[in-house]
Parts: sequence; structure tokens; C-alpha cells
Amino acid sequence: MNMGKNLFALLIALTVLATGLTSKTKYRPCMKICKKLNLGRCFRVCRIVKDCTIWKSCWENCTSSAASITAAVLKGCLHECKVKFVKIVNNVSSSAEGPVFTMDGNFYMVSYKGGEILEINLTNHQSSLLVGYKGRPTGSQCDHDNNIWVADMRLGLLKVFQNGTFHQIATKDNNNDTLQGFNDLIFDYHGNLWLTAPAGLIAPHPFESSKKEPFGSVYCYKMTGELTKVSTGYVFPNGIAVQHDKDGTPMKLIFGVDRNATLWSFDIVGHCQIENKTVWGSLPVNSSPDGMDFDEEGDLIVANYNTGHLYVFGPNGGSPILKIKCPFVYATNIHFKPNSKELYITESESNSLWKIQWKSKGMKQYCETPELRGRYGRGGG
Ligand SMILES: *[C@@H]1O[C@H](CO)[C@@H](O)[C@H](O)[C@H]1NC(C)=O
Ligand SMILES: *[C@@H]1O[C@H](CO)[C@@H](O)[C@H](O)[C@H]1NC(C)=O
Ligand SMILES: *[C@@H]1O[C@H](CO)[C@@H](O)[C@H](O)[C@H]1NC(C)=O
Ligand SMILES: *[C@@H]1O[C@H](CO)[C@@H](O)[C@H](O)[C@H]1NC(C)=O
Ligand SMILES: *[C@@H]1O[C@H](CO)[C@@H](O)[C@H](O)[C@H]1NC(C)=O
Ligand SMILES: *[C@@H]1O[C@H](CO)[C@@H](O)[C@H](O)[C@H]1NC(C)=O
Ligand SMILES: *[C@@H]1O[C@H](CO)[C@@H](O)[C@H](O)[C@H]1NC(C)=O
Repeated sequence: MNMGKNLFALLIALTVLATGLTSKTKYRPCMKICKKLNLGRCFRVCRIVKDCTIWKSCWENCTSSAASITAAVLKGCLHECKVKFVKIVNNVSSSAEGPVFTMDGNFYMVSYKGGEILEINLTNHQSSLLVGYKGRPTGSQCDHDNNIWVADMRLGLLKVFQNGTFHQIATKDNNNDTLQGFNDLIFDYHGNLWLTAPAGLIAPHPFESSKKEPFGSVYCYKMTGELTKVSTGYVFPNGIAVQHDKDGTPMKLIFGVDRNATLWSFDIVGHCQIENKTVWGSLPVNSSPDGMDFDEEGDLIVANYNTGHLYVFGPNGGSPILKIKCPFVYATNIHFKPNSKELYITESESNSLWKIQWKSKGMKQYCETPELRGRYGRGGG
């Protein structure tokens, strides 16, 4: 062995040690108990992987239901209450996006680059092609008839049946202007469908997409067939969500803009009508907020495309109250399994589908509320 090799080995050892130290942190509520009870070795006992999140409610329940607190109990509660990512399918498509459940229990996602809508069997983890076509699908939602509404960067808005047939809803808006390509979409409880439109004009116009030019828009589709551009002037508007008041009246429209730390909001003042453009929330600089959804407690979960975090905002926006590091970078979209705490996440790094247990159920989606069907407009979905 020569000196060079020894030095090399030492450097490796130091690097491993340093990484080991920096990738771990301590969970404060655990440290508090541990120190108070003088359990000793608290830094070890309360150590968690950096950016790994502990569900507070789980932690409180777990520690309060223990007969007596020991170091082993604290360790056990940390283990039990950590957010665990479960991979469901791997390398399933080219640019995985748009996860969605239909109310008959089927699960679909899309492949942006592949122009595919895929059905995933969540029991045996097999994927199968529902339909492939010349398009760029990015977002999906379900309706009361178990059809899938797909936002497509090339074709605009598609209604897809579970037998694989689909049609393009429109090519022009209500001003007779050609539509822009859509990226994400959300139904409000009045059955109106809100869409972000980051792309230029739909096919057969040449594809146009920019992370610099502010030609992105927001549209709204009424089930009576009207499709209206409600706002424009954004650089790549992306994920979109609707906040409802306690009576289920659509209250705020919220959407993110690529490479811009801002989440914008408008007050919803009528069917497909908005007012009062406001900055609703802020992410760290250079974030690219992608798919987003509310949970039952009114918190908004935002997938951040370029850092692999889920950011969580309280009902009033502002700054994130929580961030969760994902075991992947390009988090594209999220979706709750209806009436459950299961949150499904797509990512376009290894094009996989993951799930985690959220702290609460997802906010009820329009398709989960049959009593709202057809209450406003024709057909109601
Ligand atoms: C609280 O903890 C107990 C014991 O660990 C468990 O049986 C129970 O389901 C927990 N309750 C909640 C709401 O998590
Ligand atoms: C992913 O799938 C594609 C085609 O199905 C294949 O060519 C590629 O090698 C796979 N990549 C990995 C990392 O498994
Ligand atoms: C999913 O896979 C399971 C197990 O192989 C099978 O029993 C079930 O019928 C499948 N579901 C669908 C919708 O194909
Ligand atoms: C697919 O389903 C739709 C809606 O139920 C129906 O109109 C269409 O004819 C079906 N297409 C095929 C090929 O079965
Ligand atoms: C919309 O534009 C088409 C041609 O692009 C024209 O034929 C049609 O009359 C227009 N409709 C309205 C309502 O302006
Ligand atoms: C986000 O966009 C708005 C409007 O285009 C701009 O005023 C703001 O400075 C941008 N924020 C960042 C962090 O780039
Ligand atoms: C718009 O904002 C103004 C000023 O904050 C407020 O007074 C008004 O109520 C808002 N409009 C709606 C529809 O919420």
C-alpha cells in the first residue's frame, strides 16, 4: 500500500462520514421529550433522515398512547410515523403525468412524450395501454360517468372513454379564437372545468412552448359547451386547484407558474368568472410548481417539478408550512384515491408511480359528489 492509496481511503472515509452527518437530522419534538426524561443519547435516538417528515398527529398519538416513554418507544414512534414512499410501477412510460382514479375504481395515468393513456392495475402493478395517439397529454380528471378528461399540450381538451375512444372537445374558444395547448385541469363543485394553457396554438399549428415568453393562459370550460380564456400573460402556467368555501361554493382559483416562485389566485365570482388577481403563495426561488391538490383539512399540496419536494400550504397560502422530500426529483403530479388518505404521485425521472399515506383524506373531488351531478349546467359532466 502506498501513501496515495491511504490518503484516498481516508478521503473516502471522510466523505462517507460527512454525508452520513449531513443527511441526518434530529426530530425536535423527540429531542424535547428525550432531554426532559434524561433518556440519554438523544441525538441518536431522535435521528431522522434529513427532509424526511414525521406526521405530527401520528407522533403525538403514538407517544401519548405509550405506557411509559423509553428510548425504544421514541425510536418506534419515529419509525411508525415517518412518511414512507411506496413505488407502485417503475419506468412505465415516457414522462409520467396525470394520475387519476375513476369512481369505478380504475386508475389511469398519462405519458406526455409517448402520447399515451395507461391503465395501471394497482393490485398486480401491471400497466396496459388504454389508447395511444398523436398528442401530448399531461393532466387528467374524472367525471360522474367515469370518463377521463385529459389536458393535452397539442390537442387541448379531450374526453376519453374507458373503452379507449376519445374526442377533442373543441378547437376554438367562445371568441372563435384557436385554443392553446392545455397542461392541467380541475373541476369545481359547480361542474366548471378550469385549465392552464402554457402552450401556443393547438395542432395543426406548430408546437410552441416557452419557459420565458409569457403567452400562457387560463381557460374555463362550462358543461354547456362554452370554453373561455379567462386570463393570460403567464410564463408556463401549470398545476391548478380550486378552493371551496364551507358550503361547497367555488371560492378561489389557484395555479402555479414555471420557474416562478409564485402561486397566483383569483376570486371565483360566478360560473367561469374570476376577479382580483393576487399572489396567493410563494415557493422557494426557482421552484417549478406542478400538479397540486387540496386535502380535507384545506391544506394545498404542491408537487415541485425541479427539486422533488411536496410543499404544503395552509388554507390562506403564504409560505409552505411543511415540505416533504421525495426519493426522486421530477415530481409531476399528485392525486388522492377517492375518500382515502392514499396520495399517488407521478414522476418523470424514472417515470414511476408512487404512493404515500397522507395525514388526512383528500378534498372531495367533483366526481366523488354524485349529489352535485347536473345541478348546474347541462349534463353536469
Ligand atoms: C393512536 O395510537 C394507538 C396505539 O398506537 C392506535 O391503536 C390508534 O389507531 C391511533 N389512533 C390514531 C387516530 O392514529
Ligand atoms: C425503460 O423502458 C424502456 C422501454 O420500455 C427501456 O428501453 C429502458 O431500458 C427502460 N429503462 C430502465 C431504466 O429500466
Ligand atoms: C388486477 O390484477 C388482479 C390480480 O392479478 C386481478 O385479479 C384483477 O382482475 C385485475 N384488475 C383489473 C381491473 O384488470
Ligand atoms: C365507447 O364508449 C362510448 C361511450 O359509452 C360510446 O359512445 C362508443 O361508441 C364506444 N366505442 C366503442 C368502440 O365501443
Ligand atoms: C368563426 O370563424 C370561422 C372561420 O375561422 C367563421 O367561418 C365563423 O363564421 C366564425 N364564427 C363566429 C361566431 O364568428
Ligand atoms: C413571477 O412573475 C411575476 C409576473 O410575471 C413577476 O412579477 C414576479 O417577479 C415573478 N417572480 C419571480 C420569483 O420570478
Ligand atoms: C376583491 O378584492 C377586494 C379588495 O381586497 C375585496 O374588497 C373584494 O371583496 C374582492 N372581491 C371578491 C369577489 O372577493
